[in-house]
Amino acid sequence: MDAFEIRGGLPLRGECRVYGAKNAALPILAATVMVDGTSVIEDVPELEDVRVMMDILRSLGAHVTREGNRVVVDGSHIVETTVPSDLMRKMRSSVFLMGPLLGRLGEVSVSKPGGCVIGQRPIDYHLRGMRQLGANVEERHGTIRCTANRLIGTSITLDFPSVGATENLMMAASMADGVTVIENAAREPEIVDLADFLRKCGAIIEGAGEDKIRVVGVHRLTGVEHTVIPDRIVAGTLLIAAAATKGNIALHHTRPEHLGSLLGKLREAGVQVEVDHDIITVEHVGQLHAVNLRTAPHPGFPTDLQAPMMALLTVANGASIIREDVFEARFKHVNELCRMGADITVDLRTALVRGVGQLSSAPVEASDLRGGAALVVAGLMADGTTRIEGLHHIDRGYQQLDAYLRDLGAEVARREL
Ligand code: UD1
Repeated sequence: MDAFEIRGGLPLRGECRVYGAKNAALPILAATVMVDGTSVIEDVPELEDVRVMMDILRSLGAHVTREGNRVVVDGSHIVETTVPSDLMRKMRSSVFLMGPLLGRLGEVSVSKPGGCVIGQRPIDYHLRGMRQLGANVEERHGTIRCTANRLIGTSITLDFPSVGATENLMMAASMADGVTVIENAAREPEIVDLADFLRKCGAIIEGAGEDKIRVVGVHRLTGVEHTVIPDRIVAGTLLIAAAATKGNIALHHTRPEHLGSLLGKLREAGVQVEVDHDIITVEHVGQLHAVNLRTAPHPGFPTDLQAPMMALLTVANGASIIREDVFEARFKHVNELCRMGADITVDLRTALVRGVGQLSSAPVEASDLRGGAALVVAGLMADGTTRIEGLHHIDRGYQQLDAYLRDLGAEVARREL
């Protein structure tokens, strides 16, 4: 159990490179169990969730090695179809194994993921889709077992454009007989990256990144090399942190087109944002203006940046209204921000953030990944030294965040508790 100690008030300045996206790497690693041969995945971030996914792949019979940011998976000899419950409990994303194992081996057992601090997070769309593809799905004693002699292509319409369900069903459909059409599909860049990987392996997928995805099932996928897209949420968090500290940073290796709604909101708040190919530069001097925002599936404002953006808006001039429309309980960071002097009131899914001149340091605790990032943003701009506990949440999604921030001029120390 570690804590960050952040001395606030120092502007972030300098340049850094954004690493590969966790939310793209996880489904791609899961997809390697469908591949007959060796998959070489580049720019895989060093994060706890990735380590758990690699352990799961090993437990299923894959040979997995990591050298730096390259992960090599040989999935030729996958025989096991049960995802160990202790590993499943460590990471919700293990549910991604469902589509690939069902597609390749016709069978999968996973333990049912529970709710988490940001909401109930059911997987009913995943299960309904698997049933529509012809799988028999049994839920008993906390375990979900899906079986199918062959999956059969079909037409699936999601009630909500769920990222995970779109990815899981796209993977299962890649090895089904015939054509599957997924309507009201999620359009996140990570879905496009997964589809790009699968296509290189031999899958036939059209429309990834649009709301209608068409998959023609194939019988075999073969090993390829693939580089994961840069992490737009890490990039967004650093841009917000730079604006919050009245800093000036240049982020290299980004995909500005993945961050359109954030860049728009930063500009609306008075932040100077420049884009030059894969480099995004943010500079902020003077007063921030309040902005209203509503989270939505891509290309809307990402729910994963709602908390860090809220931290920024706590010191803006005027009142901002933030509506969380993706997860039902994603305001756990609000109490902690208020302990640091923020003025925020929440009514169900809407937060009213009245700008205060300055935040002041306080001992706070992260209770989820992106809420933790918001506390880091708040700590960077607060008066005095902020101590943030619950770092394991932040470490799930940000690779050595303290080292990155120190390189940009922040005073952040990691202390063992
Ligand atoms: C992914 C991301 C997460 C991000 C989220 C929304 C990964 C590993 N995680 O999570 O960082 O915050 O997208 O952009 O990629 N829902 C159901 N039933 C289902 C599935 C989802 O009701 O079967 C609901 C969820 O409870 C939530 C909404 O749909 O309210 C969106 O969830 P979803 O897009 O599935 O998020 P994840 O894939 O879990």
